[in-house]
Amino acid sequence: MTRNFTAAAAAAAAILMLLTDLQVKVDPNTEGQREVKLTCSFTCSFSPYNFYWYKNDQKLKTTNDNYIVLDSTSLRNEGSYSCRVYDSERRSPPVCVMSKACWGVTYTPDHVCALKGTSVDLSCSYTHPAAHTVRTSVWFIKQKADGEPVDVREDEEYQGRVQDTQNSQNNCSLRITNLRETDAQTYRFRFYTDQDKYTGRRGVSLFVTDLKVTVSDRGNGYKKLSCITTCTLSNNPTYIWYKNGQRVPDQNRNELDLDGSSDGSYSCAVTGHENLHTSAVYSPKNTSAEVLPTGDLMEGDSVTLSCSSDADPPVYTYSWFKQIAGADTLLTTSQNYSISNISSLHSGLYYCTADNQLGRHNSTPVHLNVLGSKSNTALKFSMVALVVFLVVTLVSGALWMWKRKSSSANEHSSTAESVQLQSAPVYDNIPASNYRVTSDDQENIDYTGVVFKPYPTEEGSLSPRLPPDTTDEEGVEYAAVNIQRNTAATQLDGANDDPSQIYSKVSR
Ligand SMILES: *[C@@H]1O[C@H](CO)[C@@H](O)[C@H](O)[C@H]1NC(C)=O
Ligand SMILES: *[C@@H]1O[C@H](CO)[C@@H](O)[C@H](O)[C@H]1NC(C)=O
Ligand SMILES: *[C@@H]1O[C@H](CO)[C@@H](O)[C@H](O)[C@H]1NC(C)=O
Ligand SMILES: *[C@@H]1O[C@H](CO)[C@@H](O)[C@H](O)[C@H]1NC(C)=O
Repeated sequence: MTRNFTAAAAAAAAILMLLTDLQVKVDPNTEGQREVKLTCSFTCSFSPYNFYWYKNDQKLKTTNDNYIVLDSTSLRNEGSYSCRVYDSERRSPPVCVMSKACWGVTYTPDHVCALKGTSVDLSCSYTHPAAHTVRTSVWFIKQKADGEPVDVREDEEYQGRVQDTQNSQNNCSLRITNLRETDAQTYRFRFYTDQDKYTGRRGVSLFVTDLKVTVSDRGNGYKKLSCITTCTLSNNPTYIWYKNGQRVPDQNRNELDLDGSSDGSYSCAVTGHENLHTSAVYSPKNTSAEVLPTGDLMEGDSVTLSCSSDADPPVYTYSWFKQIAGADTLLTTSQNYSISNISSLHSGLYYCTADNQLGRHNSTPVHLNVLGSKSNTALKFSMVALVVFLVVTLVSGALWMWKRKSSSANEHSSTAESVQLQSAPVYDNIPASNYRVTSDDQENIDYTGVVFKPYPTEEGSLSPRLPPDTTDEEGVEYAAVNIQRNTAATQLDGANDDPSQIYSKVSR
């Protein structure tokens, strides 16, 4: 190997950063010999001038050549070796030399916290004696009775969600997609060589979390929202906050401060997984007060006022108030307020409030109306019945009297031909508005003053109404008013032509 200190070579060394096939190889010609030659091998067209050697992860030495020679008779030389080329960060995978004791699996990192619903890569690297060749490997969380691992790829729970990614340079990796809470397990890696097998002992612990918003009170109406996880997310993510579904600008921490006036619903997410935002937190809404049972309330009944509300975090206090001008009275701080043996004193307006960590909301008031006692009601019913009875009796008596008078009046006018006896129904055809009484002197009522104007409405729509204040009047005998009967329509038409035709038929 020639050394090259030129600037060009140094620049070229930067290319070594990209080396991917760097590895330690045991020179097959020296295997089993007293002196074993290890070569740091890679594909590159130029020659770096420094090689760094590691044994069991500790720096061993720096060489100018790409090989070292070990004395195989010295137990001190047993171990796993890796190399690095000057200027490159990349180190070769370790290779176990001269010892069957240097099997190993290293999980990096040894624990991972990931969001439910996302994907995660678990990775490890392994070493084995150089003379071995790896045939197969498995990731597993369970073992069969005989100690053999159950490949997660064959586990029902993981169907279609796991991928044992290509092992390159003794690296191992397992990708789990669409993470579930049940995936939180310790995953171990076992590999099988042509001669033996080895299981990495500890495994990598996977934690699966979801996001949740919690609210804390900072006093004076100020709140702090925290976007929390049950484990610390491995990739140190950037947080996103949403208010009413809209991104809150310039907020990338897992906390959000709110002042007292911040109304709305809030949720959070992490960058890259915006679709996995939390459910929203919001102060109570749709707070509603209800009286149970519904319907009329009687004195002595039991009643429950029940409050409900929609809130997240859930309502922690419900309160019931009675609305009293100037000073509403707190009745209880529970969801339901029960009154047994209700009385009219309980009548009034009631409302409830719902509180959660984000705020308070009042219901619209409900009206509690206590109708009276059951016995009172019974009494009232009999009173009403009595009144109805009396009214009916009086009315029928009056009617009877009136009919009698009417028939005697009819006898007087019976001589007039084509004049028919008309009783109350006659007035059906006379709109009340068409009456005009010329004199207030009821004793001297003058029916010639009654004017029948044509009533400009549809036929039959005339309202039946009796002339006011006439039945009691002395000397006024409506029974004696006779009007020729026609159909309403023709009668009105006639009245239009000659109103007097009707007057002539009024007799006293
Ligand atoms: C192998 O794994 C180690 C540790 O996880 C990592 O640094 C290295 O880049 C990996 N190598 C390859 C080729 O994936
Ligand atoms: C809650 O209130 C909103 C409007 O304020 C309404 O759209 C929604 O239907 C209500 N939900 C219920 C369950 O009453
Ligand atoms: C209040 O009453 C409602 C409706 O009857 C019921 O669903 C609820 O469980 C009650 N709440 C409490 C705390 O008793
Ligand atoms: C209900 O209240 C009334 C008056 O307020 C009282 O006279 C009666 O004894 C009470 N009944 C019961 C069962 O408490």
